[in-house]
Amino acid sequence: MNNLTKSEIINILKDNTQDEQLFKTADEIRKKNVGNKVHLRGLIEFSNICKRTCKYCGLRAENKTLERYRISEEDIIFYAKQASEMGYKTIVLQSGEDEYFSQETICKIINEIKKLDVALTLSIGEKSYDEYKAYKDAGADRYLIRIETTDKELYKQMHPHMNYENRIKCLNYIKELGYEVGTGCLVGLPGQTIDSLADDILFFKSINADMVGIGPFIAHPETPLKDASNGSFNLALKVMALTRIILPDINIPATTAMETLNPNGRIIALQSGANVVMPNVTSKEYRAKYEIYPNKICINENPTQCRGCIEGKIKAIGRTIAEDFGFHKKVIS
Ligand code: SAM
Ligand code: SF4
Ligand code: FES
Repeated sequence: MNNLTKSEIINILKDNTQDEQLFKTADEIRKKNVGNKVHLRGLIEFSNICKRTCKYCGLRAENKTLERYRISEEDIIFYAKQASEMGYKTIVLQSGEDEYFSQETICKIINEIKKLDVALTLSIGEKSYDEYKAYKDAGADRYLIRIETTDKELYKQMHPHMNYENRIKCLNYIKELGYEVGTGCLVGLPGQTIDSLADDILFFKSINADMVGIGPFIAHPETPLKDASNGSFNLALKVMALTRIILPDINIPATTAMETLNPNGRIIALQSGANVVMPNVTSKEYRAKYEIYPNKICINENPTQCRGCIEGKIKAIGRTIAEDFGFHKKVIS
């Protein structure tokens, strides 16, 4: 199964008559390879300031309507501590590409958070080799940077002043430095083809990703893609299920964007191949402002409410919360 060819993947993506079987197969492969435990990663969205202008993203520098924020170093550490006390074994630091946070500041934050006996994931965009190295040396364990799309022409259209080759270079640096590598793609970008989604899935395999996050594109009214249609929940779920089939033992999050398009989206994803959820662990004042797309979930809840909510949903489907760090355990098949 994990040797599906590109044309087989395309056929599965195009044919919607066997979807239930696909989701069931991915669920079985998930259970066999990574078990029934769900890893919770506590997400801290610490700055919504970004110098980039990705066409799909509400945080893009050209969106002048968004009220911007930065969480202070002390408060980032406070939220991490609170999350660790709630039982989170991984903290994810995510932000726009905000140059205010220098290498030195990020390293200081990493140092403090690593004292909490948690794994640490960074998702702060494109950096130089030296910066990635400094973060790794400071104790960061994983780095998350989606390729977004492997269609080079589409990549170019979606990312003014950025380039595909540099994105690949970043992924190579991260791998070389010994991080666990997280990547992923958007599903449903305007102009994206099924053919290129098949390439995306094969790309995840070719770089030996440790984690792959797949989310539907959701149109944001303050971006150049405001009139585009949202991506399809079902197609995003299929790309995710195929990723599980092709990379049986990796970590796959049930993404927040899935739940934005379907009120039960994360649970459906957990039953179609996913084994990770990333609840927000910051307080309410920031949540709505990290508006990468509209109608984000959990904007009126606090960390305790989210923890209780997701725990209840996970238990209701007969799964349990993992108590270990949740590193990628390679299963030899
Ligand atoms: N700035 C970092 C980066 O781009 O890697 C991390 C933060 S960025 C907001 C995290 C992810 O949000 C991106 O990788 C992108 O796939 C996703 N995203 C941005 N805009 C989106 C949209 N309109 N719909 C769905 N996902 C979106
Ligand atoms: Fe910035 Fe990331 Fe949004 Fe692009 S996707 S505009 S880099 S926050
Ligand atoms: Fe935040 Fe359910 S996880 S309200």
